[in-house]
Amino acid sequence: MSSTAVTLEKIVALCKRRGFVYQSADIYGGLNGVYDFGPMGAQMKQNIRAAWLENIQSSEHEIVLLDGSLLGSHAVWKASGHLDNFHDPMIDCLECKKRYRADDIDIEKACSHCGKKNWTDVREFQLMFKTQLGALTDSTSVAYLRPETAQSIFINFKNVTSSTRVKIPFGIAQIGKAFRNEITPKQFLFRMREFEQMELEFFCTPDTADEFFATWIEMRKRFYHTIGLTPEKLRLRPHEADELAHYSKGCVDVEYHFPFGWKELEGIANRGNFDLTQHSTHSGKELSVFDENKKESYIPHVVETSVGVDRLFLTLLFDAYKEEELENETRTVLQLHPRIAPTTCAIFPLTKKLSDNAHKIYLDLKSKGLRVHFDQAGSIGKRYRRQDEVGTPVCFTFDFDSLEDGCVTARDRDTLEQKRINIARVEDYVRDLLK
Ligand code: GAP
Repeated sequence: MSSTAVTLEKIVALCKRRGFVYQSADIYGGLNGVYDFGPMGAQMKQNIRAAWLENIQSSEHEIVLLDGSLLGSHAVWKASGHLDNFHDPMIDCLECKKRYRADDIDIEKACSHCGKKNWTDVREFQLMFKTQLGALTDSTSVAYLRPETAQSIFINFKNVTSSTRVKIPFGIAQIGKAFRNEITPKQFLFRMREFEQMELEFFCTPDTADEFFATWIEMRKRFYHTIGLTPEKLRLRPHEADELAHYSKGCVDVEYHFPFGWKELEGIANRGNFDLTQHSTHSGKELSVFDENKKESYIPHVVETSVGVDRLFLTLLFDAYKEEELENETRTVLQLHPRIAPTTCAIFPLTKKLSDNAHKIYLDLKSKGLRVHFDQAGSIGKRYRRQDEVGTPVCFTFDFDSLEDGCVTARDRDTLEQKRINIARVEDYVRDLLK
């Protein structure tokens, strides 16, 4: 059995072939940097969100949820600093008109597309999508699609603390869409224009921020191990002072070793009290809390963890993808953690004559909330290959012996081992995989 290297092209092809991801507006030629998730992809994203939330909420401190709006007013993005700071340097080749992010290329060299060196000046390009609310087009109707979910949390800080009993230290977690008009969306789901973030803003006292920063780095490291990412392909990279975002006092990136190099998967930042201070100053509203011990008011500090659902999705696919030579044939398999795999198990009747018996097992598992698939089309070998490609950890086959011994054959995706297990034990067998 041998294993062949994964490439971006192979992942893109598999995603389309097996219903994970499609280019948005595919039938009209596609929309650059925007993707739709098919049945497999949509389920896998749900599993990623559930795993993330479980990790975040396993904190010993209270973590509450928020679902903020996608549109934000001019005032919000002015206060957050995004209107003034959230831009990328852009440059064009005057010969072939190809556009680049100036920090992605060496502008001392010629254009890699046409081989000539004739650049425009570097200009700053605002990354937020601007729109207009309602029919009137004056300055008060300007709105922006949010480029991060975090600001919805900061502007609702007072609403949350005054409408619930949460007390510092506590966190507000949010999963939702974010939009960035990236100059050059690339590497499939790695840099998109419409994507989804999973962010936690953890509010604490100024003197505990460093400690919580360290705690959350550990928590997030553990998360990546529990969802099965290869430990050797993960590393933590502290930011240099000149790399820090405008709000950040310290930042550590969780990086993954993609086929195109070590790249950021998640950012963990000590944001200080920048955001709440800004929103308090710009809105004129008090956003401080009262410290009962010190008998004084202060603006809470914030530790943030932020990862893209789509970027993690891509990372998991890269990590799980294997090609193996099996009996003169190549088997493509996604060795996804059972909690992340879109389908946890598949049920096959050996022949169509046994369909009713196998279908009963399928309906029983489905009614118990398991992610199960039924397939009776083609040879058993072909059915195994289809499930291997979408990462289904185990397949159960109901055959003629099953009528006599009440057992099915369980076939393991990774070891290919086959064993007979009693039908009454199938549910526990699958649940054990999900632990
Ligand atoms: N609130 C902090 C923040 O937004 P960021 O480093 O700009 O920080 C956080 O983004 C995470 O969001 C990244 O680590 C990445 O996983 C994801 N992300 C950012 N831009 C993205 C894009 N254009 N496409 C896909 N994911 C993106």
